Amino acid sequence: MSEPLFEVTDLQVSFRGRSGPVNAVNGLSYTVMPGQVLGVVGESGSGKSVSSMGLLGLIRDRGATVTGSARFQGRELIGMPDRELRSVRGREIAMVFQDPMTSLTPVYTVGWHIAEQIRAHESISKKAARHRAIELLAEVGIPDPARRVDAYPHEFSGGMRQRAVIAMALACDPALLIADEPTTALDVTTQAQILDLMLRLRETHGSSIMVITHDMGVVSEIADRVLVMYGGRAVEAGTCREVFHTPHHPYTRGLLASVPRIGGEKLHRLPTIPGAPIASSERPTGCAFAPRCAERHDACTMQPLLTGDGHLSACWLTAPEVPA
Ligand SMILES: Nc1ncnc2c1ncn2[C@@H]1O[C@H](COP(=O)(O)OP(=O)(O)OP(=O)(O)O)[C@@H](O)[C@H]1O
Ligand SMILES: [Mg+2]
Repeated sequence: MSEPLFEVTDLQVSFRGRSGPVNAVNGLSYTVMPGQVLGVVGESGSGKSVSSMGLLGLIRDRGATVTGSARFQGRELIGMPDRELRSVRGREIAMVFQDPMTSLTPVYTVGWHIAEQIRAHESISKKAARHRAIELLAEVGIPDPARRVDAYPHEFSGGMRQRAVIAMALACDPALLIADEPTTALDVTTQAQILDLMLRLRETHGSSIMVITHDMGVVSEIADRVLVMYGGRAVEAGTCREVFHTPHHPYTRGLLASVPRIGGEKLHRLPTIPGAPIASSERPTGCAFAPRCAERHDACTMQPLLTGDGHLSACWLTAPEVPA
């Protein structure tokens, strides 16, 4: 078995709250293997974005602390000096966000953005970078790329902008692409095209992909492995098949309860689970899902660990030993 490309262990992200630190991510561990697509799913506020932003040094809040370990190709990202981390970001790990305008400046052309991205990491001439930008736009399916390279972001549709941002992300052939809700703002057809595009790029560039989403449909279409997050922790992890066919955690079962059968209507949003997602500052000491869980029992006042053989779950119902 090959080495993991990316190995996150006991990641903690906390912010300064009014009455002490607030843990947004609380001991998150996962691995991404080379060429693998990991889907990270969970309700709003479960810590999906903050966890990846934290380990890439993208949280600007000065009161935020990030601890734990994030080993990428054998190098530790947590505590890495800013300069070095900046060079990893973009060159080896690229990010795509829900709103493509996060990555695009309105006053520069699309081609300028892609060329700049290339030139920030490679010493090639402006002309060669422009040429490469045109090639990348063609690769992500922008029609007439030699002309479109000079267009401004506002002249692109939302789907085209997301393609352009993916072209930017691919400009440096990243080993890992982290896409945070890359298709949420897009219509269903464009969403399917963007997912297809990401999967094709995995084939051509060999990149691993981490897709963060609250859309189970997206996960089922694209992921090899799934990580389910609740309250800043992983509550279940396994192959797409394991998690979708034999979900272990009541939270995952709740998420999947109304997923229609194959051939039925496709699910585009997480179904509603009774109760509200828990705020980071109000988590109980035991299992964070317990207050909403129909299957809670006495043991749930203690925090269950993520255990299992490949298919992992953090629940006393599936734990090998339940404390007396
Ligand atoms: N700068 C901040 N200061 C304080 N708390 C924050 C800050 N940024 C995020 N949080 C908290 O961290 C928790 C996790 O937020 P995060 O953005 O990771 O959620 P998410 O799972 O990505 O949700 P969504 O699906 O809505 O994008 C939330 O409770 C949020 O309120
Ligand atoms: Mg988010």
